[in-house]
Amino acid sequence: MTTHAIGVDIGGSGVKGALVDLTAGELAGDRVRIPTPRPSTPEAIADTVAEVVDAVRRAAPQVPAGLPVGVTVPGVVVRGTVLSAANIDPSWVGTDAATLFGERLGTRVALLNDADAAGVAELRHGAAKGVDGLVILTTLGTGIGSAFLHDGVLVPNSELGHLVIDGAVAESRAAASVREAEGLSWSEWAARLQRYYAHVERLFTPDLFVVGGGVSKHADKYLPLLDLRTPIVPAARRNRAGIIGAATVAAGD
Ligand code: BGC
Repeated sequence: MTTHAIGVDIGGSGVKGALVDLTAGELAGDRVRIPTPRPSTPEAIADTVAEVVDAVRRAAPQVPAGLPVGVTVPGVVVRGTVLSAANIDPSWVGTDAATLFGERLGTRVALLNDADAAGVAELRHGAAKGVDGLVILTTLGTGIGSAFLHDGVLVPNSELGHLVIDGAVAESRAAASVREAEGLSWSEWAARLQRYYAHVERLFTPDLFVVGGGVSKHADKYLPLLDLRTPIVPAARRNRAGIIGAATVAAGD
């Protein structure tokens, strides 16, 4: 059985990858990060993904070649094809990115939504492990991603960042990038998160919220300010969850 795989997480600002220890559910080496090219077309990003995977392989010569590779994209993914592109170049829509990346890397590539990948990692190794009922993981980053995890099973492509609340797409008000762009204080941002999570709570009555994305490392600054019926906790694997989940799915683990 494969004990290691490579995970790559394509984000709005960086393409990040690492070797993953599938048993520990953790990075097994340094994370490689290359800024997301502009424009972020599929071809340009495929080049960047290839650079990241090369760097990861070079840093781990002891690991056999031909390891499974999993890649996340910030969009809806159905059977290897990307069907939405809110924060990446519109030319992604309709692109069979699993085939594009597979040809560029010379190996089979598993492709999935970034928040779904984080959900898989948290389900196997983190905050959602062993939790019955419905766990909703959200990633707060350039946009807002979501993963529905029901009784340990991922229901992919839930896209809760695109709920329309008070006449606006939720991620355009409450993503972590919006906090930075508008210079919001933690409490000003928390007020927007309150509106968002209360709405999601009313719609789906989850048993647990898990919050991922880069800003999850500052969870103590905003999660305690929220007043929800549902427990809400940071992702145990923080911003590494996407890489770990992508590698896990690639290995068919
Ligand atoms: C995309 C999602 C993605 C999220 C986080 C949203 O704009 O529609 O697919 O998971 O951003 O990157």
